[in-house]
Order: sequence, then C-alpha cells, then structure tokens
Amino acid sequence: MNLPIGVLDSGIGGLTVLKVLSLSLPNEDFIYYADSKNAPYGTKSVDEIYILVDKIIKFLINKKCKLIVIACNTATAAVVSDMRKKYKIPIVGLEPAVKPACLNTKTNNIGVLATEGTFRGQLFIETSEKYKNYVNIHLQVAKGLVELAENGVFDGEEVENILKKYIKPFIEHNVDHIVLGCTHYPFFTPIIKKITNNKIKIIDSAEAVARRTKDLLMTNSNYRKEANRQNIKIYTSANKGTITNVANKLFNVEYNSDLVEYFFI
Ligand code: DGL
Repeated sequence: MNLPIGVLDSGIGGLTVLKVLSLSLPNEDFIYYADSKNAPYGTKSVDEIYILVDKIIKFLINKKCKLIVIACNTATAAVVSDMRKKYKIPIVGLEPAVKPACLNTKTNNIGVLATEGTFRGQLFIETSEKYKNYVNIHLQVAKGLVELAENGVFDGEEVENILKKYIKPFIEHNVDHIVLGCTHYPFFTPIIKKITNNKIKIIDSAEAVARRTKDLLMTNSNYRKEANRQNIKIYTSANKGTITNVANKLFNVEYNSDLVEYFFI
C-alpha cells in the first residue's frame, strides 16, 4: 500500500534506525519525527513520555502512516503496550539487543549502555531475567550522550572521556559484546571501537527492527513491492540545524539529498 511508515524518537537517535529501515525497505516512504525539543526522554517519568509519544503518534496517523516504529528504547519501555492498546495501527517497538549478545557471548559477560528509563522498563527486566543465570549482564546508564548527540557532538575529547569512563568497567569485566540500548549511541560507534581497540562486538537493534517491520507489513499485506523513488520526510520539534546535518551525512551516501525533505514544525 502506498502509504508512509512513521518513525519516531526523542530526537535524532532514531535516524540510525531510519537509515537501516530505508535500506531494507527501499520501496517504502518514511515520515520521521524527532522530538528534540523534549529530549532526553531517559530521565522523564512514564506519564510524561506517554503524553509526548501520544501526541507524536496522533501526528503520524494524521499523516496517513500505515505503521509506526518507535525508534526509541526509552519510549518503547515506557509506553509501547499502552499505545498498542490505544491505537489500531501496527506499532513496532525497540528494545536493547540483549538476547543476541547473551546467545553469542564466549566470555559470559556482556555490557549494556542505555538510559535510566530503558533499564527501568519491564521489557528489559524480563529479558535480562531469562539470561542472568548464564551471563553476567553489566549495566551502565550512559548519562550525557543523548545531549551531546542532540548538539551534534559525536567525537572529540569530551565524548572520549565520557565513553572511557563507561566502557572501562566493561573491559575490566572481560565483556565481549556491548549492546547499544539507545538509538542515539550508534553515532558514537567509531569512538567506542577506538576505546576497545575494535576487540569488542558492538550491537544495536536496528536490523532486528527492520526485519520485524517487513514481517508485519507482509502479514498485513501492506508491503510495497515497487516504487520509482523513496520519499523521506523529516519533522523536528526543535530547530533544524543538527538534524539537517546528521540526516544529510547519513543519507547522502546512498541517496541524492533531494530525496530527503525537511519540514520543521
Ligand atoms: N533514542 C532514545 C533511546 O533509544 C534516547 C533516549 C532519551 O531521549 O533519553 O532510548
């Protein structure tokens, strides 16, 4: 069906998921909503996140989206089940890739970087419970990273110092997988690789979300098999500076920049 897929996040982080979605589903159009004005969500209460996400889902439904991807671990943890009850539209959520890390670890130690809100969520607690007898799951709230990304700062001394502080304990515990449990964190992958000498596998949930989205579209006969071009519209609740730069960098490699349109509200 020729209707767009809605993708939302507290800010620019979900663009890391949008990138994978757009490549996996090249015939689909996308509308992305970055709630950068209200980022970070990680320290907000469930009630606050409910109000914000509810507003964005209404916005995306008004834009005729056929499916919504909550490309935010924190928002998924807080409200995905409530939103699925409230709306008929299929909603794909995102959770830290703890399962593949636990299934593949050789050292039986994995590290997870996420926000406070994600670690508090029932989904994360239940998944960790399943594996905690076999694998030591080391948790780290990566305070400050979302704010840096929202300001367009992805490298430099401040980023390296913060990440070294978070990753040092993982190295000391001999982790062989680091799970990026926040969609803003893949922007920092080059620095994490540098700190870990490229010896630790870094994983996120984008590929799994793209697979799940495709499956759902096929199940609902909503999958678009052909298109002349892919249309991506990006909306932000804050100023357009950072998101324009980041989206241009992310999408220019495979796309002409005129395929990404910006609408600022
Ligand atoms: N991208 C969001 C996530 O995946 C960021 C959380 C925040 O806004 O604090 O959790």
